[in-house]
Amino acid sequence: MSKLIIDGNKKMEGEIEVQGAKNAVLPILAATILSEGKNVIHNCPRLSDVDKTIEVLKNLGCKVVRYKDCIEVDAHDISSYTIPEELMRQMRSSIVFLGAIIAKFGKAEVSMPGGCEIGVRPIDLHLKALRQLGVEITESHGYIHCVSENPQGAKIHLDFPSVGATENTMLAACMTEGTTIIENAAREPEIEELQNFLNRMGARISGAGGDTIVIDGVRKLYGVEYSIMPDRIVSATYLACGAASKGTVVLKKAKASHMGAMINVLEGMGNKIYVEGDKVILTPAKKLTGVGTVKTMPYPGFPTDIQSPFMALATGCEGTSIFVENIFENRFRHIEELVRMGADIKIDGRVAVVIGTGKLTGAKVVAKELRGGAALVIAGLLAEGKTEIENVHYIDRGYESIENVLASCGVDIKRRE
Ligand code: EPZ
Repeated sequence: MSKLIIDGNKKMEGEIEVQGAKNAVLPILAATILSEGKNVIHNCPRLSDVDKTIEVLKNLGCKVVRYKDCIEVDAHDISSYTIPEELMRQMRSSIVFLGAIIAKFGKAEVSMPGGCEIGVRPIDLHLKALRQLGVEITESHGYIHCVSENPQGAKIHLDFPSVGATENTMLAACMTEGTTIIENAAREPEIEELQNFLNRMGARISGAGGDTIVIDGVRKLYGVEYSIMPDRIVSATYLACGAASKGTVVLKKAKASHMGAMINVLEGMGNKIYVEGDKVILTPAKKLTGVGTVKTMPYPGFPTDIQSPFMALATGCEGTSIFVENIFENRFRHIEELVRMGADIKIDGRVAVVIGTGKLTGAKVVAKELRGGAALVIAGLLAEGKTEIENVHYIDRGYESIENVLASCGVDIKRRE
């Protein structure tokens, strides 16, 4: 198991080209099984989650070739409609293949995705929406058995604007005869990216980015080329690294319009953010100040994925910051590790109260999940002395060679196998 060793004595200063968005490329790779021809996807990040998605595609019978940031998928010889337990357990977000497999085969057999480090991750909203599209679903022996003999468009209201349920419904409905309307749809930019990709393939979808999506089913989808949008969570994480180390960070190929709530909090801490085209520039605060109360909400609210990285930054602020985690029930696991570094954080249910101490001390800490691991990197930049982070494989799920990115901006960071 590799570890990262960070010495917090250096500023992070420089330019970073932002990687493609993990949470856009995963559903788009699932969508590639729907087309007759080859799909070529550019700006795909090198992440273990992407590698696992490629494994699922190959398991289904697709030919997949990866070179540099490009992934080519040929689904012509796709033969299987199942996702076995071992693949689903490696990455529960493979559940986003469910809608696409049903659209392709009229049936699907996938292992229950189960929970993960941050929560139980139920899929009741996915299954309820698919049943409304005419899919018969039974759950037994840890598998979900789906048969769709007479699919029909439907008006679906999601009880919660679930990202995954919205994506699965779009993928299942895009080739279902008739019109499907998704009300209370998730509004994340990754949903709009999926709509753009499917429409380029020949689908007829509108409204993504808003709370109502309209899908007119089509008979065929075609192979296309597409380039993935930049990752907004990775972008904000690296801005926070600059703020933590008092360095100026320039993000290239970033999309500030996806980052409003996050930029707002960084500015609230006293940092200055400038946008010039596809560049987002952070000039660090001389003294970081506490941000009051921050509540995680569905997009365009403050993203749950940046809660732990920004909480780490808040430990370096003068004053109090309060984080309310409204989306996942177990997303405070980084706190015990931050406390080992001298942070003063109290938890009361979904509320974490951070009393900014200004300085942390380096320590041996353990990443418990993806974004909590990124939080420890930020804490390492704030801390005096060396911080050693174990379980770096969690961080590698979402951040492409994080040590090379930070080292290219002057950070004293090494990976040890
Ligand atoms: C996506 O997860 C992202 N993952 C998550 O990013 C992100 O945190 C989340 O959306 C929220 O933005 C991918 O896109 C691969 P949800 P998803 O369905 O689709 C409850 C990261 O770090 N819910 O919007 O699973 C659920 O329990 C990851 O990159 C149900 O109750 O999120 C949670 O409390 C972590 N029933 C809330 O909704 C359902 O059927 C939000 O879940 C589905 C969800």
